[in-house]
Amino acid sequence: MTRRILVTSALPYANGPTHLGHLIEAIQTDIWVRSQRLSGHECIYVCADDTHGTPIMLKAQQEGTTPEAVIAAVGIERRRDYADFQIGFDNYYTTHSPENVAQTHDIFGKLVAGGHIATRSIKQAYDEKAGMLLPDRYVRGSCPRCGAPDQYGDSCEVCGATYAPSDLVNPLSVISGTPPVERESEHLFFKLGDFEQMLREWTGGGALQAGVRNKLEEWFGQGLRDWDISRDAPYFGIEIPGHPGKYFYVWLDAPIGYMASFRDLCNKSGLRFEDWWGADSSAELYHFIGKDIIYFHTLFWPATLHGAGYRVPNGVFAHGFLTINGEKMSKSRGTFITVRRYLDHLPASHLRYYFASKLSDGLEDMDLNLDEFALKVNADVVGKLVNIASRCAGFITRGHDGRLADVLPDMPLFEEFAAATPRITALYDARDYSAAIREIMALADRANLYIDQNKPWLLAKDPLRAADVQAVCTQGLNLFRLLMGWLKPVLPEMAEQAEAFLCSPVKGWGDLYRPLLGSSIRPYEALATRLDAKQVDKIIEAPPVVAPPAAAPAAAPASKPAKAARPAAAEAAPPATITIEDFQKLDLRVARVDKAELVEGSDKLLRLTLDVGGETRTVFSGIREAYEPGRLEGRLVVLVANLAPRKMRFGVSEGMVLSAGPGGSDLFVISPEAGATPGMAVK
Ligand code: MSP
Ligand code: ZN
Repeated sequence: MTRRILVTSALPYANGPTHLGHLIEAIQTDIWVRSQRLSGHECIYVCADDTHGTPIMLKAQQEGTTPEAVIAAVGIERRRDYADFQIGFDNYYTTHSPENVAQTHDIFGKLVAGGHIATRSIKQAYDEKAGMLLPDRYVRGSCPRCGAPDQYGDSCEVCGATYAPSDLVNPLSVISGTPPVERESEHLFFKLGDFEQMLREWTGGGALQAGVRNKLEEWFGQGLRDWDISRDAPYFGIEIPGHPGKYFYVWLDAPIGYMASFRDLCNKSGLRFEDWWGADSSAELYHFIGKDIIYFHTLFWPATLHGAGYRVPNGVFAHGFLTINGEKMSKSRGTFITVRRYLDHLPASHLRYYFASKLSDGLEDMDLNLDEFALKVNADVVGKLVNIASRCAGFITRGHDGRLADVLPDMPLFEEFAAATPRITALYDARDYSAAIREIMALADRANLYIDQNKPWLLAKDPLRAADVQAVCTQGLNLFRLLMGWLKPVLPEMAEQAEAFLCSPVKGWGDLYRPLLGSSIRPYEALATRLDAKQVDKIIEAPPVVAPPAAAPAAAPASKPAKAARPAAAEAAPPATITIEDFQKLDLRVARVDKAELVEGSDKLLRLTLDVGGETRTVFSGIREAYEPGRLEGRLVVLVANLAPRKMRFGVSEGMVLSAGPGGSDLFVISPEAGATPGMAVK
């Protein structure tokens, strides 16, 4: 039976660029959606930018622009980021839209009519120094439940409690660092407790992972408290009808953004909103989210929907967090990797494959280990998968005019492969992608073994065995077609290239049960290239404090933070020309290396003590791989003497030593001939 399935990923905040954490969620969702479509279901995937709230307002203020301008710019980049990663949204919209305003008003009106909204005066944190009311996240203090220090005003990252900022122990304003004072203000509340019965039933109905269900049991145990859904001006959001100067808290209108994005799609496509969102809709609804926003999606959201007379989700699928080389993504470690930065250096499919191999149906965190990433992609995608096609294709193209044989020499092997299809698709359904990948790669090993055993390259030497070569390679290519077909949700672009090469589209899983025989193929073109570990390292940014002078490679990055990181500056292309005036700004001096020492904690740098004609300078130079320190002492070098001193992790570098060469161990200091004296200007 064809199912109608509506799927969402969480709406990324519009106050920043798309990063690999957002991406792993989009990839997890996209793989599932593509797999459902290959199963023949009607599967719609919508998302949007989450554009409201205080952070966006403050960011716009800081940048001297409007929130509208900020979210428009982010929206453009976001769509490009996801498109370049082959995320197959049916619609990507924004919560700052007329559809979202209308839908939010509609839901609020129904909640008011149902008696689920209460009004009462609350004391709110006010920063007297900054002159503003403080949103929850702008007050930090100790958790009222477990006592953990330095927690946000809305929830505790240690014990998961949610509360009001006024509940915090010893609160401080994040903006001014002063203790906030209390101000009275009237707020609107959503009476979550009205929905306890309904939520308990929904929780027990199989919509949730075991780990999530346990959390909910805990929250039920603590009692469901009213949820504050209003914020006072100034606020960037949707004004509350009938309450001038008050706005809906961003978390009220954000999930409604799922509906608004779908509504926008309806307006463009002829889908009918009611069929998908009406209380008795037979369509299915699934939300993919990170584990940090479970509360919003499993309590507030289903209650809001139900209270306003809409259908509730069939499933909320939470995932863990992405770490990089075993640690939380961090700006200061250079591991807050944006999607754009990744794409500037590496192909999208490789990361899609790697993430798929890491994803399961649980809440555990997932690690992007850069060494493992390169090894795995090279071994699996290039070494096992693509290799089969490249080994077989040439014999068919050259020796057989591009025509496949009419029969398979080993039909049982093909059937064994085909029989794996339901197992693999079931693993996709269950979001156990890592298990699906393991299964597929085990079969890829089996296919390679077949080719190794039948050795078409040997058979090809015997003109009498041409038919055998064709048969063996036809078998190999058919096994390849199944492997690539199964991977189509993970590697959609590569799969399509493979389909073009085999002149045979895969529109559904059912297309994988019959072998391709007697048909023509096109000449093989490489489907994937090996990852170079050096290239992989480039996605990590050099930590800001150790950024080297701009004219690398004379000074390479100071350290290997997590993995050797290349500085952004080293990649910046020099301008095509500079003027003589530019050049004259350089004070180039002969210097003698008095001392050259290793720098603890850095395998790139040497600490040079230079004699510049009576004056002593310390310079950190990235030539460690090219020179043993002893070989430098006593040598003359050329120093850029008027380079602004630069604070590095290991000390201050007072200038730059010039060297030439491609980098690494191929670097040569530029050395004036003996006779030059330290301090002498270089002309
Ligand atoms: N705007 C809210 C979601 C509203 S949904 C109605 C939000 N935005 S977010 O930009 O912070 O996060 C968007 C999604 O990305 C969330 O599901 C979040 O869990 C996920 N991730 C953000 N950082 C992540 C990692 N480091 N790893 C994996 N997922 C992460 O929350
Ligand atoms: Zn706590």
